[in-house]
Amino acid sequence: MSNKNKLIPLKISGVGYCVPETVITNDDLTKLYDTSDEWIYTRTGIRERRFVSGEENAIDLGYKAALNAIKKANVKPEELDLIIAASSAPPNLYPSIACRIQEKLGAGKIPAFDITAACSGLIYTLEMARAYIGAGLYKKILLVATDNNSRLCDWTDRGVSILFGDGAGAMVVEEAEDGVDDILAINIKADGSIGEYLTLPLTGQNCPLVEPCEEKPVHIKMNGKEVYKFAVRIIPEYIDKCLEAANMKAEEVDYLIPHQANQRIIEAIQQRLGYSDNKVISNIKYYGNTSAASVPIALAEGVEKGKIKLPSTAILCGFGAGMTWGVAIVRLREGIC
Ligand code: UT7
Repeated sequence: MSNKNKLIPLKISGVGYCVPETVITNDDLTKLYDTSDEWIYTRTGIRERRFVSGEENAIDLGYKAALNAIKKANVKPEELDLIIAASSAPPNLYPSIACRIQEKLGAGKIPAFDITAACSGLIYTLEMARAYIGAGLYKKILLVATDNNSRLCDWTDRGVSILFGDGAGAMVVEEAEDGVDDILAINIKADGSIGEYLTLPLTGQNCPLVEPCEEKPVHIKMNGKEVYKFAVRIIPEYIDKCLEAANMKAEEVDYLIPHQANQRIIEAIQQRLGYSDNKVISNIKYYGNTSAASVPIALAEGVEKGKIKLPSTAILCGFGAGMTWGVAIVRLREGIC
């Protein structure tokens, strides 16, 4: 963790989200393989999820979430200095999602790039933005977390494909002119030695002059049990570290807004914090696991549905492929979503 005292303070000024329209229920999935609403709901807390249709993709979802976030932030696209998108399910490796959103927004020729930190993506981009704003390099940054995993699932693999949903969240962060830093603590980490728990191999094929070979399908592979054990061990540990860095007790933070990966993981973290249900934001039942987008969707939708009152404070946390993880304790100002 860097020394926050030396940084220019950061303000979270707008948060938005977008989910596709098509709803696929657990009962619908029984048409694909041997499963049941009861199995999926009791193991994961998921009842339904949203999927893109036709040509819609992570860029479209991210663009709509970005429009909502910049509107809330009262920022014009041409005022932005930088766009960072986090995705592990982009429609193209290049051009990047961030470049396409820059063009769609009419944001001018500002720098724009994507990062891959899977479901920790939003927390990773927040830490990057904090460094850029903190150092005085940029004043207004758009973060977009958008994933379209439905195109990357193996639809014969019932152990993985039941989990995911599509969606996007976006956040505008700016230099805080009032000097109040909205990042009370943040910590991102990775452990590449356990990267095989969750993979999306882009194997391609060798040159046919070298050897004949068949193109391999591109599918998410996951060791669900190991990811589960990893998450319930690492996230509470890093929440504790962040609480200590922020000099706060768990009960002093208003909400837990966790990555929506599995309701049982959310409940394990909740139990460790001793939080009542009204402090814990969970919408996994309706959206499944939307990867990087899940934290900003839970935040913006939580405010929209009246589950989160503003102003307040929240623990945001994510974990995913890499393996990566991140925790942030943030101030949520009035009117940001
Ligand atoms: O953001 C990405 C992070 N990913 C995660 O957070 C995933 C964390 N892990 C999980 O959420 C859980 O591991 C899963 C929900 C994915 C799976 O639950 P599990 O309790 O670990 O189940 P399992 O894979 O060990 O499977 C248990 C049994 C197996 O049957 P047998 O071998 O015991 O007879 C599976 O074949 O359940 C069976 N099974 C299913 N049955 C009905 C697996 N998937 C299904 C299914 N419907 N969809």
